[in-house]
Amino acid sequence: RLGSQFVQPAYALAPSARASARCASVYTNRTVMCQAASVAAPETVPATYPNVTPHIADRAQYEQLYQRSVTDPDGFWGDMAEQFHWQRKWDDKHVSYNFDVRQGPISVEWYKGGVTNICYNALDRHVAAGNGDVPAFLWEGNDVGRDKTMTYAEVLDDVCRLANWLRSVGVQKGDAVAIYMPMLCELPIAMLACARIGAVHSVVFGGFSAEALAGRIEDCQARVLLTASGVMRANKKIDLKKIADDAVKLCAKNNFKVETCLVYDNANAMPRSECAFTPGRDVWWQDAVADFPTTAEVEWVDSEHPLFLLYTSGSTGKPKGVLHSTGGYMVYNATTTKYAFNLSPGDVYWCTADCGWITGHSYLTYGPLLNGATNVVFEGVPTYPDAGRCWEVVDKYKVKQFYTAPTAIRSLMRSGDSHVQKHKRDSLQILGTVGEPINPEAWRWYHDVVGDGRCPVVDTWWQTETGGHMILPLPNVWQQKPGSATLPFFGVVPVLLDEKGNELKGEAEGYLCIKNAWPSTLRTVYGDHERYETNYFKPFPGYYFTGDGAKRDADAYYWITGRVDDVINVSGHRIGTAEVESALVGHNHCAEAAVVGFEHPIKGQGIYAYVTLMEGVEYSEDIRKDLIKAVRNTIGAFAAPDVIHWAPGLPKTRSGKIMRRVLRKIAAKEEDQLGDVSTLADPGVVQQLVASRQAAL
Ligand code: WTA
Repeated sequence: RLGSQFVQPAYALAPSARASARCASVYTNRTVMCQAASVAAPETVPATYPNVTPHIADRAQYEQLYQRSVTDPDGFWGDMAEQFHWQRKWDDKHVSYNFDVRQGPISVEWYKGGVTNICYNALDRHVAAGNGDVPAFLWEGNDVGRDKTMTYAEVLDDVCRLANWLRSVGVQKGDAVAIYMPMLCELPIAMLACARIGAVHSVVFGGFSAEALAGRIEDCQARVLLTASGVMRANKKIDLKKIADDAVKLCAKNNFKVETCLVYDNANAMPRSECAFTPGRDVWWQDAVADFPTTAEVEWVDSEHPLFLLYTSGSTGKPKGVLHSTGGYMVYNATTTKYAFNLSPGDVYWCTADCGWITGHSYLTYGPLLNGATNVVFEGVPTYPDAGRCWEVVDKYKVKQFYTAPTAIRSLMRSGDSHVQKHKRDSLQILGTVGEPINPEAWRWYHDVVGDGRCPVVDTWWQTETGGHMILPLPNVWQQKPGSATLPFFGVVPVLLDEKGNELKGEAEGYLCIKNAWPSTLRTVYGDHERYETNYFKPFPGYYFTGDGAKRDADAYYWITGRVDDVINVSGHRIGTAEVESALVGHNHCAEAAVVGFEHPIKGQGIYAYVTLMEGVEYSEDIRKDLIKAVRNTIGAFAAPDVIHWAPGLPKTRSGKIMRRVLRKIAAKEEDQLGDVSTLADPGVVQQLVASRQAAL
């Protein structure tokens, strides 16, 4: 049971491991200029927007609240928690944490003594207050004209039915439940049903392959899997049930049995008659769940009870199961949603993320519902049937807050302004962005064309691990600068460190770390607390290391420069280069592979793979296709390399370490800026790679 694993962690660090805590240069692979840095003066943007009245009056009020949030976290976060229902109130001194591996195991605790339930707070609380008739979900299907509205009361009914079903198949408090579903209302409903009974949901993005799904199911030992028959994304049919079946088979091969598979019959995309069905294991959702009662007892849980696991990529090894707990996540998530989007109950809010990623957890499922908002849930893609779809939907539902990723903005920008201008968009007040640095050109287009210059752009920097926004411009509270996430949210103390771990002051560039715990700090890496400490807390003892580099300008604004480790960000999807490499070398003709990111006009970063084949094997188009297929099968289509470069050899140091810095420069055609290559075992390899590059592009 996750619950017991979590409550009594057996993760004391061995003294030797503690002593060996080292600085980031050992862990990071990209050169960061840790120095005083000046940032170019930004273009001007309006300081205020007449149609937006923010929850926080002005910068002075922010400063005052911010100061309190960091000097009196118990009091500040206690006040923020008051609006929620707690079955038992938290203690006055409820915050405790250790971020320093030298002082003992890393631990974070928030709302100590408190007992609550996030599903109750997201649904029952609003229904009890008489708001059951407010729409919770405005579901918009892939095809124009397919839609559905669900009120808070209706969502609660369905959540209770499903919670009862989960209990009926033996799911108990602390058990993990895997969810592999398209963007139907049933996906957030499934998450809430788990939360209601104290089960731990582990949502796996529907674009992951069977192998990736199987790995995640096995890691958290989920005996129950919720999925759907299939889904249409634009014109493409995705056979989710088949992928789920393959995953379950892979689990069985490894002696792990998925006992029950609840399948939503998404008949429009794929009727049940087209699906394989395993009696005894598979159950049709509509048949099995409908007859359960629409009330289900709430499982009241301790504030630190685990809420969900979400697997994310790191620089090494297999994806990590990031674990978030209940109370701190709930309050931080609701508070960031409210202030970032200036959200009030009943606002029509639309986040285009998929629930398979953290943004869909925090800012599609929990945050908006905790705030009593009306959520657009979109099954399709922004460019189908044409690049005007988003703005058509904005007009249809009168969306006030719109939240998407820079990659979507860039791709819509490329389709031209006419798709935007065809639609009124006059309901829009706030435009949000997340997932990767937004380039000023895309920022401008979003602000000037989509928002007609009337809406602030909220560039939110955060991570799966942080659970909620960390650095962002509160709308209409202070001046924005295109491309800067600006200032920290309440309770967050960002710092820039040099490679020795010294804090840099004033204008500077360095490793972005967080000095203190915030309520939705990840609590552990599931099943591997040591990995949690090694990844996030050992690089710079005393700090949480984000994996990102950043600059701070003269106004103390932060500018995220991107990952400094071997994680790449493709269309806002986080991908570990090691995972792609391991998929490539899994192919029997591949001797060696090294993967780096390169600048991509739409995706932000693309995947560039250097591949060396086995002796005697000839490079061919068939092998290229095969290698790409191997990545699609192992991870998912979104991780398929954009470029395969047949490499005669890879640049290695004399100790055999691949110099990725050199590979990044060659991929970027910047071989004139290679820097020091004196440690290369064979300097000639650089020229060979430059010479062979043409064939790759
Ligand atoms: C990047 C997504 C710049 C960053 C919420 C981070 C950003 C990683 C921004 C986390 C932003 C996210 N500006 N970079 N506004 N938002 N990132 O875990 O590199 O999928 O470390 O969480 O995305 O990705 P994740």
